[in-house]
Amino acid sequence: MINIPKGTKDVLPNESYKWKKVTEVAYQIAHRYNLKEIKTPTFEHTELFVRGVGNGSDIVNKEMYTFVDKGGRSLTLKPEGTASVARSFIENGLFNETMPLKMWYITPCFRYEKPQAGRLREHHQFAVEIYGPNSVMSDVETIMIAYEFYKAFGIEPVLHINNIGCSECRKNYIEKLKEFVKPHLHEMCEDCQVRYKNNPLRMLDCKVDICKHILQGAPLISDCLCEKCSDHFDQVKQLLKVLKINFVADPKLVRGIDYYTNIVFEFVDEDKQLGQNALGGGGRYNNLVTDLGGKPTPVVGFGIGIERLLLYMEKKGINFPTTEGVDIYIASNTSNISYIVYLADYLRDMGFTVETDLMLRSMKAQFKYADKLNVRYVIVVGDDEIFNNQLSIKDMNTGEQRKVDYNKLAEFFNGK
Ligand code: HAM
Repeated sequence: MINIPKGTKDVLPNESYKWKKVTEVAYQIAHRYNLKEIKTPTFEHTELFVRGVGNGSDIVNKEMYTFVDKGGRSLTLKPEGTASVARSFIENGLFNETMPLKMWYITPCFRYEKPQAGRLREHHQFAVEIYGPNSVMSDVETIMIAYEFYKAFGIEPVLHINNIGCSECRKNYIEKLKEFVKPHLHEMCEDCQVRYKNNPLRMLDCKVDICKHILQGAPLISDCLCEKCSDHFDQVKQLLKVLKINFVADPKLVRGIDYYTNIVFEFVDEDKQLGQNALGGGGRYNNLVTDLGGKPTPVVGFGIGIERLLLYMEKKGINFPTTEGVDIYIASNTSNISYIVYLADYLRDMGFTVETDLMLRSMKAQFKYADKLNVRYVIVVGDDEIFNNQLSIKDMNTGEQRKVDYNKLAEFFNGK
């Protein structure tokens, strides 16, 4: 037997309704916020992620699925969607559109990580990218969209938020951070030794105990923000309070991708049900478009892991808002199959979910199956019913059974 590749997951027929719901919620929220869907390819030129996601990130350093195609090009399965959208924005001249350009997508992402609960090698994200604005309102609107998405599933993870400053504040901060770390550098993990050179901010995110311990007393970015960044952050926090969105100002939050500037945030599972605590994350990235060769364009966005959302709900015992059912089952013991097929078609045209006996079961077994499907109505069709043009309909909720003329079926079901 050939097994599924490590770190990937099937979505089986008995759970796919959850994914349908995720997509439906995404479309509903997109409609309310006037977000337009964007689709980008599953693979891109490797260079896009090296330049976009950044050399200092674990994603680029350790986790990319990179291969050379038959034409000798280096391609990479996308580890995230933001860089692809930025590439598309530049390549398709989307900067000529009236701003803001508010986009959303659901995409598979591939990262060669050590698989564990909530950490996969292929995962999917619901993501939003808002191009154009640099305003407090656009930061908050982005957070509101993510927040509403979670709320639609009955969950309220805690929002952790930080401002990692503009390039100027970060330059000052990085100097201070390096100064602080330098005497302890030899005690720190190998990754942090590299981060010290390539991406010092990422040291703050290190999960290794000794590094965490050393960095406990490190200077905070919040103490190095310029007036503009500091004001911006205060206003974002103020607006979140007005909206009653609970948040924790987390001065150590830096995110694992190089493109972020200013506001960054994560939705955190504080009960640590998952092992992974970030259910979603995002922030502002005002330099990515220029880094990829486009004109300066401020952008803010987020990505929410769908598998993590589903796992979190399962662990917390939160049921899905809806399950799917079958409206009508046609139980039959007639050889007149064209009648059954025609009847099913007629009812489906009216918009009902209809099942028929494809397995050629006995009448008793068909009722048992209908029960299992949680069907609302069973229509019994035998030769007598066909001859009399009268169908017997059983309401499976009440047990009530009645005869209905074929030409009164529409009236009967539409009245329900
Ligand atoms: P990220 O924090 O790397 O951000 O991923 C976003 C979310 O995807 C995570 O919070 C988590 O829920 C989920 N996720 C990430 N890696 C895995 C994995 N290996 N297995 C399962 N779920 C995972 C980004 O990717 C950014 N592009 C988000 C963004 C959009 N920022 C601005 N715009």
